[in-house]
Amino acid sequence: MEERFELLIDGILEKGYGIVDDFLSPDEVEILRQTLYARNQQGEFKTAAIGNQQVTVQTSIRGDQIRWLDRADALPEETLYLDRVQYLIEYLNRTCYLGLLDSEIHYALYPAGTFYKRHLDRFRANSSLGGPQRKLSVICYLNQDWQESDGGQLVVYLPQPDGGEEAISILPAGGRLVCFESDKLEHEVLPATRERLSLTGWLRTGGTR
Ligand code: OGA
Ligand code: MN
Repeated sequence: MEERFELLIDGILEKGYGIVDDFLSPDEVEILRQTLYARNQQGEFKTAAIGNQQVTVQTSIRGDQIRWLDRADALPEETLYLDRVQYLIEYLNRTCYLGLLDSEIHYALYPAGTFYKRHLDRFRANSSLGGPQRKLSVICYLNQDWQESDGGQLVVYLPQPDGGEEAISILPAGGRLVCFESDKLEHEVLPATRERLSLTGWLRTGGTR
């Protein structure tokens, strides 16, 4: 895994984002997907909101349903994911001196047709979104057999030296982890023709959600 973490770091430093394709094995993806469905069935998911001071639900901006992970009531497969993210945190601290302390992670379920418009996970000057402690965004997908024609790509916008930008589109393939700096990389989630599942989170330098 450490070699893959090196490639992830190179990606973030050189391009602004990095990918690890098998952060979770197909079996791990499958069990987490089942757990997501079970929790959703029990009514544990809520429509995601935007903002911090004034939290509002605006499905014209984002349409996902979320459920935060909590170590206190985590199932073994959820603990495994939290531990693996912790392992990534420790690796990043050891190699990049990032001073990461903690993670906050939620399941995200995008019903077919929903999306998340272009945004930053943290504003630079105004810390009202996400809080200033959000350093890195980490998203791991729980989808099975995702095809380009299913839509739902994560599009990242990379600023170019000439002042333009390059849009890169990333397939939400099961087990794939995408990581980028929360206050730097603008991104969006395109609408999909089927339900789109992930574990989305942030690596923080302190504080709590
Ligand atoms: C988010 C987000 C991207 C994705 O939840 O802030 O941008 O690919 N998610 O799910
Ligand atoms: Mn985001």
